[in-house]
Amino acid sequence: MNNRKTFRTELCDMLGIEYPILLAGMGGLAGEGHAAQPKLVAAVSNAGGMGVLGATGLPLDELRAEIREIKSLTGKPFGVDVLLPEDLSVSPPPNMSLAELKRNFIPKQHIDFVEKLAADYGVPLTEIRQELVFSVEHSKKQIQVLLEEGVPLYCAGLGIPDWLVPMAHEGGMKVLGLAGNVRGALRHKKARGDFIVAQGYEAGGHTGRIGTFALVPQVVDAVAPTPVLAAGGIGDGRGLVAALVLGAVGVWVGTAFLFAEEANVTDIHRKMISEANEEDTRVSRVWTGKTLRQIKNPIQEAFDSSGLRPLPMLVQLLLMMDLINSLAKAERYDLLCAPTGQIVGLLKETKPAKQILDDMVNGAIKLLGETLPTKVKIES
Ligand SMILES: Cc1cc2nc3c(=O)[nH]c(=O)nc-3n(C[C@H](O)[C@H](O)[C@H](O)COP(=O)(O)O)c2cc1C
Repeated sequence: MNNRKTFRTELCDMLGIEYPILLAGMGGLAGEGHAAQPKLVAAVSNAGGMGVLGATGLPLDELRAEIREIKSLTGKPFGVDVLLPEDLSVSPPPNMSLAELKRNFIPKQHIDFVEKLAADYGVPLTEIRQELVFSVEHSKKQIQVLLEEGVPLYCAGLGIPDWLVPMAHEGGMKVLGLAGNVRGALRHKKARGDFIVAQGYEAGGHTGRIGTFALVPQVVDAVAPTPVLAAGGIGDGRGLVAALVLGAVGVWVGTAFLFAEEANVTDIHRKMISEANEEDTRVSRVWTGKTLRQIKNPIQEAFDSSGLRPLPMLVQLLLMMDLINSLAKAERYDLLCAPTGQIVGLLKETKPAKQILDDMVNGAIKLLGETLPTKVKIES
């Protein structure tokens, strides 16, 4: 006899999954690679949630290879997240040399600052020409790969451009978009995305200014009937139940899954998160030009106290890219960005992803035995 309890919301029916828990599409800047890698994606999908590949920065051939790897590990639905800045007007022209790009876009005092940092830490600042992944052309090619590979869900980390949703829907792919305020959520609704993630200030990675508790009900009301998932600070069954009570149909979970055995996290990042408490993260624009929550770190502290103005998103990334690559090459992961949310202090141990998901579901079921929000059905 199967005694496993079901725990479903309408999100499960819409996505064809068992539990309303999505692995956040966690990418990476360099060195460490992307935390939400194929093994973690497949583990979460196989456990009844939905894994989402953090594919930001992946060249097209690697993107296709990773999607195929996921398909070889699970027959369950999964998603792919690519950070797509809504405004690509600041995207540097792809054919310019790195030196030209820097000359044209970056103030000298910023370059001096980075060069001094590299010298202070004794890492040679090697110029590494990155493929510029943020352009409309590249993004369209990425979506094309997703459609060709029959990916069920596309997740847009930073905004949904107008052209994307019709293209995705035509190919049978659903679209989810992240928003940090009501205005952003309404833009997703206008673009006709299928799901909106209301992501609060507590979250690891790029984050806005509004806390999850205040944000979720306001987004739910503003975009109804579009289904909303909650994100930012959800680490166990209590967070899951709270999200549902606030009107969400599911949760989008990042930091808690950094503790999964299958997460692609360096040993240093793993040690940092297992020792961190709720006070140990900082929001800074140092790495990408956009506010990003990470474990506090000497490079971030040096930039934030330098008085230098953060540059627009892609330009700041361009400024930092050589240093990021050089630090990664020197294996100075202690100095690199380790995106992590404030819930980090709740979690301590590394576990299989299935265990993290099961604990969240079982904790929620136990709580809901006492209080039952109307959107949840529990059956034996
Ligand atoms: C290590 C890490 C990497 C992340 N990378 C991305 C990314 O590439 N794209 C994206 O849309 N969000 C990214 N995020 C944000 C997550 O998608 C998610 O919104 C957030 O982790 C949810 O909050 P939580 O960390 O409190 O669970 C990242 C978060 C973390 C912790």
